[in-house]
Amino acid sequence: MNSKDMTQPATDQTMLETAQQILRDNDRGGYTVPSARLYPFQWNWDAGITALGWMCFDEARAWQELDSLFLGQWENGLVPHIVFHQPADSYFPGPEQWGLADRKPPTTSITQPPLLATMVRLMRDRAKDKGLAKQRVAALLPRLISAHHWWSRERDPENTGLVVSYHPWESGMDNSPAWDAPLAAVPPTKREYQRRDTQHIDAAQRPHKAEYDRFVYLLDLFRELKFDGARIYAECPYRVADFGTNAILLRSVLDLADLCDDAGLNEEAEVQRARAAVMKKAMASLWSEELGQYVSLDTSTGQQLLSPTHATFLAGYARIYDQTTAGQQYALLERWQAMSRWGLASLRPDDAAFEPQRYWRGPIWPHINWMIAEGCQHYGRQDLHDRLLGDTRELIAEKGFYEYFNPGTGEAYGGPAFSWTAAIILYWVLGQQLPR
Ligand code: DGY
Repeated sequence: MNSKDMTQPATDQTMLETAQQILRDNDRGGYTVPSARLYPFQWNWDAGITALGWMCFDEARAWQELDSLFLGQWENGLVPHIVFHQPADSYFPGPEQWGLADRKPPTTSITQPPLLATMVRLMRDRAKDKGLAKQRVAALLPRLISAHHWWSRERDPENTGLVVSYHPWESGMDNSPAWDAPLAAVPPTKREYQRRDTQHIDAAQRPHKAEYDRFVYLLDLFRELKFDGARIYAECPYRVADFGTNAILLRSVLDLADLCDDAGLNEEAEVQRARAAVMKKAMASLWSEELGQYVSLDTSTGQQLLSPTHATFLAGYARIYDQTTAGQQYALLERWQAMSRWGLASLRPDDAAFEPQRYWRGPIWPHINWMIAEGCQHYGRQDLHDRLLGDTRELIAEKGFYEYFNPGTGEAYGGPAFSWTAAIILYWVLGQQLPR
């Protein structure tokens, strides 16, 4: 199924079996690696999406995925972007680079898009074993609440309603053209380092060295600043209010409020709803009249980052549209779809920075397709939802369970046997078509 010269598109049954097998193969005993050699540890937002996949055939294992991730949660609430449960030498930068090799388990010092509360809610809603789900949600809630308070306190200390990222990896969309301008303000590292990603994957599908030089500079800076949130907020040369992160967080805040209500934590639910209202209002300032879509903001310069990325369509997932913006944004989405054979490109295909093979500068990402489609369905655009689902299914059936895909040719890129690609097939694509 992962061979690039696959000739026969897969049936639903073979896709189901392959997807389950990928998760079993990537299981390292309670946590799932995204792809064996390229990403040999547990990643934050991968774990959330992957748990949805496990939920379709092994509910206990699904809950365990999140328990394992939270083993890496910091005392202050941070849920790190990587938890290094066991050593592996096929990835750079490992725990020593981050200066956190002595933590148990070792972790990085940054985070990733905060989708976990939403995943927990979706897992609970889908659970057949409601007793187990109630017990697991009760155990996870204090962890989630602490993570959300961390976001408000550490990443929006002035209560603007927008949280900031200090590293492009926190957005999950590592080399998006939206980060080109703020990254230009970050000095390149002067130290030697050895990348491992380009030993596994064609360099043309990965970020450039110039970006890695700055990625490394930033992680060194966090270590030198002893991970002190106030100092990083004051001194980090990269400070971006990413629309995608804020949208994903807002949706999680809404879901967390509902989970709290259901658990009888009504005061906390009110805190979360108040936060959601502040965020929703602030996110209106991320609208660009020039592009006719939402964009991110460089909070160091006050400049909007005028890059037409697919993050704008996460507004549906975040539930921030009114009827006018929904209509306008979905017309835009249809224009993007008309520009490439498959949807949805991560960058508007007629943009000068579009590179259909380079990671977050053009390729299609199956899990983002799902999040965008979920919003389309919520706002009554079942047609757009179905088209995204059909494209996602066709790409994976024809090309295999890869990390990302070329919107023009459908070529598959990045890591093979990819966990969240498998999870998206199980939860979304087949979840709607096969008996549960
Ligand atoms: C990587 O190493 O490419 C990851 O995306 C960082 O999280």
